[in-house]
Amino acid sequence: MEKFEYFSGIPEVGIVPRAPHAGPLMRHVYEQEHGRGGFAGKVSHTYHLYPPTNWLPEESRLLDGAGFAPHWESPLRPVGGVHHALGVLEPEAPRDVYRGMGRLIANATAAMNVTAPVAPMDYFFEHHSATLVFFVHEGSGTLETTFGPIAYRKGDFLIIPKGITHRFECDQGPQYYWAYESFAGDPEKAEAVTTGQFLTHSRRDYKFPRSLDSRNEAGRFEIVSKTDGTYARRVHPTHPFDAVGWRGTYLPYKFAVEDVRPLVADRSHVPPSGHTVFLLPGCYICVFTVRSAEKEGLWVPFFHKNLDYCETLGYHAGRFFSRGGVFSEGMISVHPVGLPHGPHPKALAALLDDKRPQVFEEVGIMADFANPATISDFALGLAQPDYMASWSGYTMEPRFLHDPGRLAKVLRLAERLADARDKLRPAGSEDEGH
Ligand SMILES: [Fe+2]
Repeated sequence: MEKFEYFSGIPEVGIVPRAPHAGPLMRHVYEQEHGRGGFAGKVSHTYHLYPPTNWLPEESRLLDGAGFAPHWESPLRPVGGVHHALGVLEPEAPRDVYRGMGRLIANATAAMNVTAPVAPMDYFFEHHSATLVFFVHEGSGTLETTFGPIAYRKGDFLIIPKGITHRFECDQGPQYYWAYESFAGDPEKAEAVTTGQFLTHSRRDYKFPRSLDSRNEAGRFEIVSKTDGTYARRVHPTHPFDAVGWRGTYLPYKFAVEDVRPLVADRSHVPPSGHTVFLLPGCYICVFTVRSAEKEGLWVPFFHKNLDYCETLGYHAGRFFSRGGVFSEGMISVHPVGLPHGPHPKALAALLDDKRPQVFEEVGIMADFANPATISDFALGLAQPDYMASWSGYTMEPRFLHDPGRLAKVLRLAERLADARDKLRPAGSEDEGH
């Protein structure tokens, strides 16, 4: 008999029944619903060889959080009034991805962490109170999940929805990840009606698991879960990745930073909102990537006060021109709510001297946290003491110092320049060459 196949439009892999909660397959595999919003929101179903609740009760217990991941629970304190430059975390043996997690910044709905794992994870992990957004600053490996494996490398974002069982299998070599937690909702793709769904990236750039690596293994399999500051361990007698199929839209995925195709503007400065890739409750994540410099408008950041957010910027790769050589790869700046900042003196001097680069050779990941935000003692331990002094050019270099004649000079210039229109000379127009 001829075989007909139908595509429902909902992603699925492997063996799945015709519909959730129905059909004869229900008596041969164990269906598990991963449901958000009290089972009224996003949902996926996985189909398992063994009941997901087959834990060994005598080995299930709460863990001492301070012992398991001491820096993840680092005390938090208000942040404000002083900028911080955080140095690179030294890997600490024998920390793995989660045991070595260090919290940096947090507000009520989101947090930023850093980890430099050196040891393999000998357990599986579930975050019960946040969807995780990893950015792989350095390293590579495989993210193993209930839905199948996702290979990753430097420059990938990895989105691990709340509650999904997973494990990092890191390759050899240095690993360095920034990890953002979203406590009140999943990251949503940022886009504007003016630029459409393909700028600055497309949903087609999200790469979901496509194949299952189903395990029918007996043994002793530990799953560590985190719910706020509570850590728990349970042990199962069968491998947790025993799913033979799944269907749904609540899924882990990856997204490569190279797939960000930035907005550029010849005659004005694109603000951070034009570089936003993910919106989280109380947080937005932007990618500043390799792009051509504005030709006629301001091509350094404007001096600014972010009046509602504490800004973090992780320096991923390249030369960070606007920061005047203060930052190297792996460092993070923390610019608290309200405190002015902008180009460092060397960058502003280049603007004034008309030394415009053709291209900004930089990749940075910015995450801004709605006020009130807090900084951890762990982060303060990484802070370099002299960062505020990096703007000292503004009080040392003659061109920026007080000049008794400056008011008159600026007023004189203003009469001529304040109302000047842009030059607009289309090739072939009558004005060309005049
Ligand atoms: Fe800023």
